[in-house]
This record gives sequence, C-alpha cells and structure tokens, in this order.
Amino acid sequence: MTAVTAEHTADTTHQAHFDAAVAADERIEPRDWMPDEYRSSLVRQMAQHAHSEIIGMQPEANWITRAPSLRRKAILMAKVQDEAGHGLYLYSAAETLGTSREELLDKLHSGRQKYSSIFNYPTLTWADVGAIGWLVDGAAITNQVPLCRCSYGPYARAMVRICKEESFHQRQGYELLLALSQGTPAQHDMAQDAVNRWWWPSLMMFGPPDEESAHSARSMAWKIKRHSNDELRQRFVDICVPQAEALGLTLPDPDLRWNEERGHHDFGAIDWDEFWQVLKGDGPCNEQRITQRRRAHEEGAWVREAAAAYAAKTASDKAERNEAQVEATA
Ligand SMILES: [Fe+2]
Ligand SMILES: [Fe+2]
Repeated sequence: MTAVTAEHTADTTHQAHFDAAVAADERIEPRDWMPDEYRSSLVRQMAQHAHSEIIGMQPEANWITRAPSLRRKAILMAKVQDEAGHGLYLYSAAETLGTSREELLDKLHSGRQKYSSIFNYPTLTWADVGAIGWLVDGAAITNQVPLCRCSYGPYARAMVRICKEESFHQRQGYELLLALSQGTPAQHDMAQDAVNRWWWPSLMMFGPPDEESAHSARSMAWKIKRHSNDELRQRFVDICVPQAEALGLTLPDPDLRWNEERGHHDFGAIDWDEFWQVLKGDGPCNEQRITQRRRAHEEGAWVREAAAAYAAKTASDKAERNEAQVEATA
C-alpha cells in the first residue's frame, strides 16, 4: 500500500468511527478524531456564542447604577456577572478544540467573528431590563436547551449549567415586567413599550428562515443542532403568548393568532431586511458595543499581565521546591 492510500484508509476508518458515534448519540470528546469542518463549525458557533454572552453584558449593565431598588440592583448585578461566566465557560470549551481565547477575542475585536445582533439594540428604559430577561433570555433558553444534547461533549456540558442560570434570568425579567405591568399606568406603559421594541428582534434571534440558513442542515446532521431555526422560533412564540396574557401585556403583532389545525400560533412576517442590516453592522448600537468591548479589553491588560506574572512565579517557585526536594533526597 502506498503512503497516500494508507492515509486515505486511516481517514475513512476515523470518519466511520465518528459517524457511528454521532449516530449512536455518543459524545465527541476533544481527543477524538473529528472532521475538520466539524471542528471549524463548532469553533465558529461556540465563539459567536461566547462573544454574545460578554457583549450581552453591556445593554443591561447600562442600568445597574439606575436600578430602582437595592434588591433590583443586586439581582441585575448577579445576572450580568452570570453572563460573564457564560462567556468564560464557552471560551474554555472552545479552547478544547485548539483555539486560544486570545485568538477568538482578537477576531471579535477586529470584526471577523460576530455576536448575536440582539445586543445592538439600545436599552432605553428600566423596563428593557425586564423585556430582555423575559424575551431575550427566554429565546436564548429555547435555543440552548437542545444544545445540552449537542454531539460535542465540552459544549454540551457547558450548556447544562448555562441553561440553569438562563432560566433564572428569564424569571427575573418576567417578574420585573409583572411588577411594572401591575404598577401605575405609566409603569404599565413603560413595560408595554419595552415589549413592543424587543419582541421582533427576539424572534430574529433564532436566525434566518430554514431555507436561507447557511449552516443549519449540516449542523443538524452532526447533531450540533437538534431543531431548525423555524421550529425553535415557533416553539418560542407558543410559549410567549400565554405568558404575555398573564403579564397583562400584548405582543405587537396583529397577525398573531392560534391556528387550531396546526396546533400552533400563526404570526406575522419578520422584517428580514432589518435583521441583515443590523448583522452587517448598521444597527443602532453596533459601533458603541464593539468600541466599549475593545476599551474594556485594553483596560483589563494589567489584570492579564498580573495573572501571567503570578502564574510564572508560581511555576518557578514550584520548580525550585522540586529541585530542593530532589537534592535533599539525593
Ligand atoms: Fe447567558
Ligand atoms: Fe442570560
């Protein structure tokens, strides 16, 4: 056998093992062989997810200093810190695929990797904190619960913890909106206005319609994704309708109605032009978000330097201690 055919045979065996593992719903782990496209597709998705978590801290952090009570402030601070943690789990999970966090952050800062477009919308009032928790974190959970069964082990395991925290985020948003909705007429209007502004962008979070989604089919075959964009979007709408009713708020869609035959709610057309425009960088806050992110990264340089210096010192102290021990026993 020539070297080339031997290599080819090894690759086909690897591919067969990989395919069998995915078919049997087994997890692919970092040391397992995987197709290059599977790896790069995962890195792209996990990086975009991690970036979304840390950029997503900004719109809500905007309200920490103006939270209406100590209790609300404590809840919001905990939530924003959770999002930082989600970013860290996901960057760590992405590192198991052979990319460094530094490289991923560099791609975010230079615009070569994206984050969820939802965070390019502004938070105009306190009620936006509630609408984000209820709708944006709610949409994120709908998307992410199936990722707990994703074929890549480290991603799936990170998602289990993230989903638990997201569910707290969703509830705090819902509870905040409920308090406003049942408050004074002005508070009720503020809640309604926030829902009016966040509803459609939340539906866009599930990504383009199935027939236009570039990566969907392949991700589903690899069991990275378990449900299509449209399927998840429908699930989210069906969950939100009764919740909106309980909140005493309306969803801003005149076409929204129960379809007995389908057993689902029909809903109006999504403005995909707006989606693509925001994705391309022309949303209300794209520039502000990335500028702030770069600034935060630069301002954190001393922390990274100190951590690296401490790690180096700890390693050299340990090496010295080991040497001393060897000498003592010699
Ligand atoms: Fe999160
Ligand atoms: Fe969240």
